[in-house]
Amino acid sequence: MIDPVEALKAFLRCPSVSADSSYQEGMLGAQDFLSSLFSGIGLEVELVKTPKHPIILARKGGDPSWPHVVIYGHYDVQPADPFELWETDPFDPVVKDGRLYARGAADNKGPLMVHIAAVADLLIENPDLPLRITFLVEGEEEIGSPSFPEFVDNHKDTTLKADMVLLSDTSSPSAEQVGITTALRGLAGLEVYVEGPSGDLHSGVHGGAVYNPIQALAEICASLHGPDGKVNVPGFYDSVIEPVDWEIEELAKLPTTESSYKEFLGVPEFYELEGIKPIAATRFAPTLDFNGITGGYQGEGSKTIIPSKASTKITFRLVANQDPVVAMKQIKDAITERCPKGVRVSFKEVPGGAPYKIVPPGRPNSDPEQSPVLAKAFELADDAVTSVFGKKPLYLAEGGSIPIISQLKDVAGLDSLMIGLFTSESNLHAPNESFDLKLMERAIEASRRILWGLSQ
Ligand code: BES
Ligand code: MN
Repeated sequence: MIDPVEALKAFLRCPSVSADSSYQEGMLGAQDFLSSLFSGIGLEVELVKTPKHPIILARKGGDPSWPHVVIYGHYDVQPADPFELWETDPFDPVVKDGRLYARGAADNKGPLMVHIAAVADLLIENPDLPLRITFLVEGEEEIGSPSFPEFVDNHKDTTLKADMVLLSDTSSPSAEQVGITTALRGLAGLEVYVEGPSGDLHSGVHGGAVYNPIQALAEICASLHGPDGKVNVPGFYDSVIEPVDWEIEELAKLPTTESSYKEFLGVPEFYELEGIKPIAATRFAPTLDFNGITGGYQGEGSKTIIPSKASTKITFRLVANQDPVVAMKQIKDAITERCPKGVRVSFKEVPGGAPYKIVPPGRPNSDPEQSPVLAKAFELADDAVTSVFGKKPLYLAEGGSIPIISQLKDVAGLDSLMIGLFTSESNLHAPNESFDLKLMERAIEASRRILWGLSQ
């Protein structure tokens, strides 16, 4: 029997920041920790090498006629900076008021531990459980899962010959109200470089003769949204599927109000997007965001120059049925066409992933070819959440992205049951990340019931 909270604390003490090579030891620590945890509960562990951080597989095999569930998670975490904003050490977990604080507590070590603890529990009581389980835990999720496409391709007819994926790497409205995720937005990125004169120029000597690259970039950026708030790129919305009735009804059950949300955000007004309210827009509308912008003199005081270059980092979120490759081309074409002749523009593409959407079995227009095991899992999840949490789950589209979910669908034919286990208090990717321990305890019981049900 593992003590889930103690195990989670030990896991959180491994600073597994995938983005920063100085945390290599933390990555290795997390791999060792998981490998021994998995073998300790009787699973067969394999590390699949990738150029950066290996994928960990842990299997419970069995009769090929038994259902096969892949449980996905990631052992890497976001960087903890800025450290000075943490109230406690991000890599020394602390329990306060029923929450466990540490980097990765919610994204994704806590939720992953929920399913590990559930499997550990089940296997102690039922070593011959008629269910095949494969944990698939990657170490590159927070850097965009660069090794995943190759892994899925190589394993689609072996490890990934399964009935469904189960994971918890999405959110819930609150610790009492669980959400089951029915959609994720896709994501891709583009770095835009604008170059003007071959070097910085004296703005007195040359000002008036050259197109300032910052001005050009700012004009390009400003052109990418229209007065209606929409992304102003020809064709961008062509393939977007509007939310249907049940999706809107489920969203309407969200306890969040516009005023509470605005207060949470700390903004004086919402961004106005024609035809869709802000809360719905974060889940059903595509976006184009500027994540960073730079150029010219950034030091103290003033410097009278026309800089030679300026650049910005853009990411865009896509909803069903948008294609990231098509959107990338549309955005690049629009920028190229709008770039003033006095400067040159170049790009670096940052590949991402496609959006994902699943209509839960039994709802209008659900996929008739959906795996019966998945359909059963959705029913079991609804029952387990309802009885353990005392409230039916909400079926919600999410604004975040997990690009590998659509890869698993498109290449290996696997749909996912996503049970949201973090909430807005979890501070994902931010200082003072935390995980609700009461929620954890209940979620372990719910996961145990789902997996038990699938074995019956
Ligand atoms: N767990 C999140 C995705 C998520 C966040 C889903 C919130 C639902 C609600 C995941 O680890 C993540 O942060 N994904 C990144 C993209 C990734 C390619 C770096 C994201 O959404 O920005
Ligand atoms: Mn994340």
